[in-house]
Amino acid sequence: MQDGLGREIDYLRISVTDKCNLRCRYCMPPQGITPLAHEEILTLEEIFRLVGIMEQLGIRKVRLTGGEPMVRKNLSWLVEQIHGLPGIREIAMTTNGTLFAPQAEIYREAGLTAVNISLDTLDPERFRCITGCDRADRAAGVDSVLRAIDAALEQQLRVKINCVPCVEMNGEDMEGIAALAADRPVDVRFIELMPIGCGKDYTGISSEEILRRLERRFGAAIAVPGKSPLAVAGRAAAPYEKPDGPAECYQFPGFSGRIGFISPISHKFCRECNRVRLTCEGRLKLCLHYDRGLELKPLLRSGALDEEIRGRILAAVREKPSEHHFREKAADGGLTDGAEEQRKMVQI
Ligand code: GTP
Ligand code: 5AD
Ligand code: SF4
Repeated sequence: MQDGLGREIDYLRISVTDKCNLRCRYCMPPQGITPLAHEEILTLEEIFRLVGIMEQLGIRKVRLTGGEPMVRKNLSWLVEQIHGLPGIREIAMTTNGTLFAPQAEIYREAGLTAVNISLDTLDPERFRCITGCDRADRAAGVDSVLRAIDAALEQQLRVKINCVPCVEMNGEDMEGIAALAADRPVDVRFIELMPIGCGKDYTGISSEEILRRLERRFGAAIAVPGKSPLAVAGRAAAPYEKPDGPAECYQFPGFSGRIGFISPISHKFCRECNRVRLTCEGRLKLCLHYDRGLELKPLLRSGALDEEIRGRILAAVREKPSEHHFREKAADGGLTDGAEEQRKMVQI
């Protein structure tokens, strides 16, 4: 399936819930959000029907996200069903990791192939401060996330760790988080904070700044071929190949895993975007930054046939915006091709 600019869309990100057991400050307001009513949320059967239709349109990779996907009951059933679709090559999950370790084996058996685990600090006190996780709730602390990483590796899942560096929160933790890739075969990815929802209230740190800090500590890094490296002075640009994600990866001396940078602010990757999103209330969302999209729930619930839904999805995908305008928005307040997303990240 191609969009109007000829980009091949083969990656579907599905938000299965707007609920989360944490309250990361850049993602959710401290008082939380009012969760959608049960009947507003697509059932797992409805989600599976849509994945089936979209697999026929060329979706090859599915990622389950939230909120926190693991708070949704019976999610492994959905993984198992999607795994049975012949065109799907990868089923991944993005999770905060706190609930993952005890279920790692169940998910791997259901067909999960990869997991991206969010971790912004290794310091228990700062973890509590960033995630709003109550100190008494030890089960959902740093240790539970580290256990998730090890359990996922034990199950031979591909593991990426996501860290969002913020001046106000975890600036000094970057070397420690990066070191998780020293003795584990994981990608640790540093993500530039996007000014969406509560993200607008904090100050992200650029990928180039983090790379500089890590090189001071761990030695010179080599850009992994096939990815376009950050435009850091004196670094040769590798030819671009279609990446399986937006990260640009580096190898540090002696590290088993890699260090990646996701730089939507300093190095837009919209030109290579291959993804669309399905929100938990059933909207096909064409770009992270834009509000508009196709409401699929009314179609599903009014007895529309697969053929009709397929046609509507194809037409909507053709209208995918060309790019996000985070920086331009900050500069002149304008958006050129759509209405800006007003929801919080946890709701997307
Ligand atoms: P991989 O396929 O494993 O590379 O996953 P991913 O990096 O696409 O997914 P993940 O859920 O781990 O997201 C990592 C970061 O990328 C998060 O901060 C996301 O918000 C950001 N991200 C994901 N999709 C998009 C997108 O379409 N546009 C922009 N600008 N950022 C995105
Ligand atoms: N900018 C960048 N990344 C964000 N995440 C949540 N909010 C933002 C934001 N405003 C990250 C989480 C998680 C991933 C899915 O998105 O840390 O790792
Ligand atoms: Fe939950 Fe992830 Fe948002 Fe943190 S960043 S509140 S773990 S959805």
